[in-house]
Amino acid sequence: MENLKNDKIDRIKYWNDDYVKYWKKMTDEAEKSSDISTVDGKVPGDYSTSGVDTIAEFLNNMDLQPKEKVLDYGCGLGRFFDYISQRSEYYGIDISEQMIKVCKQKYPLHTDRFMVAEGENLYFEDGFFDKVVCVGVFDACYQEAALMEMLRVVKDGGKILISGKGNKYNLDDEQAYIAEEAARRKGHPNYFTDVRSMLEQVKEFVSVEEERYFPYRGDMRKGKYTHKMPETFYEWVIIIRKIGGGTPELNKFSSRYSNSWQARN
Ligand SMILES: C[S@@+](CC[C@H](N)C(=O)[O-])C[C@H]1O[C@@H](n2cnc3c(N)ncnc32)[C@H](O)[C@@H]1O
Repeated sequence: MENLKNDKIDRIKYWNDDYVKYWKKMTDEAEKSSDISTVDGKVPGDYSTSGVDTIAEFLNNMDLQPKEKVLDYGCGLGRFFDYISQRSEYYGIDISEQMIKVCKQKYPLHTDRFMVAEGENLYFEDGFFDKVVCVGVFDACYQEAALMEMLRVVKDGGKILISGKGNKYNLDDEQAYIAEEAARRKGHPNYFTDVRSMLEQVKEFVSVEEERYFPYRGDMRKGKYTHKMPETFYEWVIIIRKIGGGTPELNKFSSRYSNSWQARN
């Protein structure tokens, strides 16, 4: 993993800094269902993030049941707490102490539900969780380590939902290109996924329950997607079920620069 040590120090600072205020504005705005974001510090022409209702559409397919332990991996400001805790037992982890502080203030009766942890190095025992939900976080993680860790902490038969960014987006997706450059300038940890390679590597360990591929930046909000993986796409959401056989050792399937950005430079 490139420059893991320095990157690690930077990323913790990054998530504890102005990002907390920025994410609060973005998520507040998302709930008002505006399309193009007006939040300061946004990437030019940026789209609002998807609101909880849009994401609930994926979460509904996780089939959360009472007594199940569900990990909200990179829980941010805890916006999925209500959805998950109304159905199952909620556990939220985040790398950012500041995010977790806000969650605890927001849910004073449930402070024990929120914990500071790096997703690549969780302190839960093997198979502790029934389900893992990782929305808007994977693209900031050391992905191979993050996925191995999710597969370790989920039990056999358990489900994992992950969203991320594809490493080959459409060459005419100007907004994706601008976003990639702007994110890099801001020092935002950004990793693009070769989803084909990732799924190929885990195929003996998981069954793929659902795939959604969003062709252009902004399509997730608009609910525009295909279930079959196209050659090029921007965002993706998958639900996989662990079928046993242990935890795979994964080779690199993510990169700091997308293939599309590299093709244009
Ligand atoms: C874009 S926010 C998404 C938050 C939440 N999942 C949501 O959709 O509202 C990304 C979050 O991931 C957290 N994060 C980034 N890298 C992480 C890591 N390696 N382990 C745990 N959390 C991480 C950040 O601190 C931030 O709260």
